[in-house]
Amino acid sequence: MSESVARPLLRADGVGKSYTLRGRRVDVLNDVSLAVSGGEVTALVGHSGSGKTTLLHILGLLTPPDGGRVFVGSADGRNPVDTSGLSDGELADLRRSRLGFVFQSYNLLPQHSALLNVALPHLGSRGAGERRARELLARVGLADRADHLPSELSGGEQQRVALARALINDPPVVLADEPTGNLDTDSEDVLLALFRELADEGRAVLLVTHNPTVSESADVVHRLEKGAFTDTRDAADEPATGTESSK
Ligand SMILES: Nc1ncnc2c1ncn2[C@@H]1O[C@H](COP(=O)(O)OP(=O)(O)O)[C@@H](O)[C@H]1O
Ligand SMILES: [Mg+2]
Repeated sequence: MSESVARPLLRADGVGKSYTLRGRRVDVLNDVSLAVSGGEVTALVGHSGSGKTTLLHILGLLTPPDGGRVFVGSADGRNPVDTSGLSDGELADLRRSRLGFVFQSYNLLPQHSALLNVALPHLGSRGAGERRARELLARVGLADRADHLPSELSGGEQQRVALARALINDPPVVLADEPTGNLDTDSEDVLLALFRELADEGRAVLLVTHNPTVSESADVVHRLEKGAFTDTRDAADEPATGTESSK
């Protein structure tokens, strides 16, 4: 990137979420704020049930928060859009153009080939979508699996198809829930290298993970505990090796 100033491309401001289940209130997120910037891989870690998926779905404009706001920036991080009060259609447009989401369970359409799964969300013409889908399948190492159905792919391959699909509209932000959950270490390395490439292209990459290899490779780590942040490690805060002092 020509500019080194990190701009938040996606931001949660004081977000809260609770569910009422059979008359009992379950507080999931309590006043959580978080910004993810272009050029960085951010990891969101925490125990099972700590609210990671809920927060990712709120940031991905899939679940509305009860309180607080989510802002989505354009590719250069300028003029962030306050998403509170947007209609479902406006939210869907923002989601399709700005956010690439990789679900924990992949959510591939079982009756369609890998190629069509990747191409379907494309915002342009069908021909251009298929061309780009082929390029993306090649990028994730699945050029020779384009005509396979999801059931004819391994878990790791389905995961990579889901990532290719998330990239079809060239989104500035990529969100992924436990992307290495079902992968062996080789596939994990391939996927982590891809996420790093995406960040190097200037995208903001936010990964929910409980895998230490993933969080160690991230630039920024946020830890959720009982619905709130307890500790944040920012690689940029660590003392540099040169004469610059850390902040
Ligand atoms: N739709 C829902 N209704 C009621 N409780 C929910 C719902 N979704 C999630 N929860 C609860 O919210 C908490 C956080 O869930 P989740 O965000 O999936 O955690 P994580 O991804 O960190 O494991 C859990 O205790 C879960 O039981
Ligand atoms: Mg989860």
